Amino acid sequence: MKFIKILILFIAFQVSAQQGGMWIPSLLEGMNEQEMQSLGSTLSAKDIYDVNNSSLKDAIGHFNGGCTSEVISDKGLILTNHHCGFSQIQSHSSVENDYITNGFWAKNFKEELPNEGLYIDFIVRIEDVTARVLADVTDTMTEKEKQSKIDSTSNQINKSAKKEAWQGSKIKAFFKGNQYFLFITETFNDIRLVGAPPVSIGKFGSDTDNWVWPRHTGDFSLFRIYADKNNRPASYSKDNVPYAPKHFLPISLDGITEGDFTLVFGFPGRTNEYLPAIAIEQITQKVNPSRIAIREATLNVMDAEMKKDNKTRIQYASKQARIANAWKKWIGENLGIEKSNAIGKKRDFESQFQKLVKQKGLEKQYGSLLSDFEKLYNDFESVNVKRNNFLEVFIRNNELMHMMFRLYQMENAYQKGDASFNKAKESTITRLKGIHKNYNASLDKNVFEAIMPLYSKNINASIYDKTQFTNLDSALELLKGEPKKVIKKLNNDAAFVYAKPFFDELYNSIDPQFQSINSEINALQKIYMKALMEVMPEERYFPDANSTLRVTYGQVKGYAPRDAVYYNPVTYLDGIIEKYIPGDYEFDVPQKLQDLYKAKDYGQYADTNGKLPICFLGTNHTSGGNSGSPAIDAHGNLVGLNFDRVWEGTMSDMNYDPEICRNIMVDLRYVLFIIDKYAGADHLIKEMKLVHPKRK
Ligand code: ARG
Ligand code: ASP
Repeated sequence: MKFIKILILFIAFQVSAQQGGMWIPSLLEGMNEQEMQSLGSTLSAKDIYDVNNSSLKDAIGHFNGGCTSEVISDKGLILTNHHCGFSQIQSHSSVENDYITNGFWAKNFKEELPNEGLYIDFIVRIEDVTARVLADVTDTMTEKEKQSKIDSTSNQINKSAKKEAWQGSKIKAFFKGNQYFLFITETFNDIRLVGAPPVSIGKFGSDTDNWVWPRHTGDFSLFRIYADKNNRPASYSKDNVPYAPKHFLPISLDGITEGDFTLVFGFPGRTNEYLPAIAIEQITQKVNPSRIAIREATLNVMDAEMKKDNKTRIQYASKQARIANAWKKWIGENLGIEKSNAIGKKRDFESQFQKLVKQKGLEKQYGSLLSDFEKLYNDFESVNVKRNNFLEVFIRNNELMHMMFRLYQMENAYQKGDASFNKAKESTITRLKGIHKNYNASLDKNVFEAIMPLYSKNINASIYDKTQFTNLDSALELLKGEPKKVIKKLNNDAAFVYAKPFFDELYNSIDPQFQSINSEINALQKIYMKALMEVMPEERYFPDANSTLRVTYGQVKGYAPRDAVYYNPVTYLDGIIEKYIPGDYEFDVPQKLQDLYKAKDYGQYADTNGKLPICFLGTNHTSGGNSGSPAIDAHGNLVGLNFDRVWEGTMSDMNYDPEICRNIMVDLRYVLFIIDKYAGADHLIKEMKLVHPKRK
């Protein structure tokens, strides 16, 4: 790939203080290695990623497909965020045994709690397979033909990839389909809950502080990987034993100070750093406002009912957190894009691009890219907004409609015959059971009444009193019997009858329109990516996040969000006491923590100034999915646990600005302090390897 060569060549000459970027761990030699070292790192590229020897990457696990986690002992102890383990913590909680409120600490291996469905993936090896994937793709093919060729070749490469019987593999597209990598993976399925602080520590500040600095959240939880007798992945068994990892991270007790190098290693989910201005405009001015409004309506209902009733609070804790999290992020994203004039700057950048295309005689290839984008996005707008609203209302916010959607898909499977129906029925039942585990029909009905008017004029809340699906037993009863009979009963259910036309519209009109324009946009974006690298080789390019393992690095650093305001990069326990509101659902502080503060009983976890550090900021370029990622110091030790970004920088998925985009990490000394001094779980501390890299 010529453009990649140009890219690498160029970047080698351009090691600068400028930062940002999420890099592929197997390609750090050269530019990244040098840049990291110029920031103070002593690590080599091979210390971070090595196929033949153990390296940092062997300690990094993809947690349940959505978060990151790391191994911190030779017995498979796993550290991730509280919010990443939240649904597991919730699932073991009840009004009597409220681990959300009180925390949970297993005193020994026996007390560790299994979690059905939870898994952790490790990356064994990464291989560039671009040439093979694209070998049979020709210029004369249509986009559709190209994609199906790419899919079938990828399939073959995947099947024939060299791997052990217990390993898996997958191929992922990078740079919008200009480059392809093969990943050999190992997936562990027996993951047990070891410890979690009370929510007043693990989610201190809750929604008010979410996405905000200064922050004081102890956002961590502990799990453990169990493996079979041969140390290989295995499904849950009481005979499984703690996993012996290829590598685990030692923990530094010396902490960080401003300017220190940090490396964040994890699985960022999705970024869009190379969008045209018109796309950012559409997302921030059309898509975000309507999904913000839908979620706001849901949250008004949920929050009120959760405050009223303890059982509801536990039941909806995890759902509420998920809905509130993106809701607040989109608000911040819009503010940031506007305040930084991101769209205006993109437009300027695009005229520059257009000028260079002309200067370099590339008009024939690239001259119409931007105007093509304008046209496509204009055609896309209404269907894009409509589909987003559909997903919000019918899939993510209203649970009865979500159930109907699964049932609708089951009915579709029925058209393909009994076998496919039976399979679909099984997975539908699993879904229904999952939803009903924490379901409150009257709350859901109120959500329905609040959000449905934002989608359609056709609102009929009386379906809640007639349907069989607000109750699990009657739902399962309806699903009993011959396929034909089940389908007939289903089509007599009031909620299904109500919902069906909406799904028909999605399948017959919204989705086909959406997919057809979207695939044209993707094809154009692929060419645009290539064009950018060719026309402006002096810019800095890294592939957008795609849920694969990435390295991002930077320094501990504060920031200045507005005139005369500067944020220090470190918070202390004093700040928790400042924020303390007795009995408040967001800012209460456990008595024990107050006592430890009064006694200044910080043990070996205090900073050199005698205070207890809580969180710190860095210039690491992170995204959703990086939650739970380790922040690693210049020597390869764990110093922080990534969990969030600052308000002014939530736009970083589309517009990373090194001046104001910061990631937020919990200081590992606070994590250890809570485990040791607060919870008295010092048997866990003994399992870890604590080091002092800054002592001479
Ligand atoms: N905003 C962070 C992330 O996107 C942390 C969310 C958890 N905290 C919360 N208050 N919900 O996931
Ligand atoms: N809190 C996010 C996560 O859960 C991280 C982020 O978006 O910065 O992955």
